[in-house]
Amino acid sequence: MTKGSMSARSVVLVTGASAGIGRATAERLHQSGRTIIGASRRMAPGVAWQQVPMDVDDDASVADGMAKIIEEHGGIDALVTCAGWGLAGPVETTPIDEARAQMETNFFGTVRCVTAALPSLRQRSGRIIVISSIGGLLGLPFQAYYSASKFALEGWAEALAWEVKPFHVDVTLVEPGNFHTDFTGSRRRVTSRSDDPYDEACQRAISTMEADEQGGAGPERVAEVIDRLLVARRPPRRRSVGPAGERLGSFTKRILPNRLFEAASASSLGV
Ligand SMILES: NC(=O)c1ccc[n+]([C@@H]2O[C@H](COP(=O)([O-])OP(=O)(O)OC[C@H]3O[C@@H](n4cnc5c(N)ncnc54)[C@H](OP(=O)(O)O)[C@@H]3O)[C@@H](O)[C@H]2O)c1
Repeated sequence: MTKGSMSARSVVLVTGASAGIGRATAERLHQSGRTIIGASRRMAPGVAWQQVPMDVDDDASVADGMAKIIEEHGGIDALVTCAGWGLAGPVETTPIDEARAQMETNFFGTVRCVTAALPSLRQRSGRIIVISSIGGLLGLPFQAYYSASKFALEGWAEALAWEVKPFHVDVTLVEPGNFHTDFTGSRRRVTSRSDDPYDEACQRAISTMEADEQGGAGPERVAEVIDRLLVARRPPRRRSVGPAGERLGSFTKRILPNRLFEAASASSLGV
């Protein structure tokens, strides 16, 4: 297959395919005739694509899952990394092991999947779509470790893109705004202490942001964007997706002085 000619018969591995953005992506790509392998810890009932159990936190689980996929399909043409979750809590009172768990899935989980897939992707001029977030461009209050995990992906994927370019492997960061998925319900909260000085502010900010998630569009819109990126002749390094106001946030952050930007965005973040 030549660069930019990913066909409908392509083999695509989607992580985090049991729910939300990953599931909608697997469904859309399956409908368009591709061979889809969905990887997650839970198996989604009643889906038409192949599912492989995979815990992206676990080296052996990723290696085993990838080995099975390569054995069965001979390789993959694209990888879409959707596996992830959110941690809510103040920086000061978040135990390090909870912060580490957030990085383990969102950052190192993506690293594990991408590095395991690259030997195959290099042979097929493949594509990598990394699901980042608007929280990977703007630091979200009381979601600092979530933002840190996505900021980490932003820099890492940018560096990776240089390294794999000679092999005609393309890397795109997709940065969704708020979408209605299981993400809100799966968010882990740091246990608050009775003397926590941030408690009230944290509750207010998180409920403001959760209301936006719950009021967001369904994940099918993100799936549609990913579908187009897989066939784009020259896929962009970054693609934001979501309501105009949310997408504008990363642009205004670049052009406004920080204090002005922070004053303008405070109320939408509940701070
Ligand atoms: N929804 C939003 O507003 C939004 C906005 C920006 C970015 N995002 C990003 O989009 C991605 C998908 O989120 P979503 O909204 O679709 O949430 P979701 O509905 O909760 O889906 C999360 C998926 O990740 C999988 N997952 C979590 N931990 C995993 C692990 N250790 N190993 C394998 N799979 C794991 C879950 O599957 P199992 O539990 O079965 O393993 C599930 O399939 C995340 O990276 C999130 O940060 C979401």
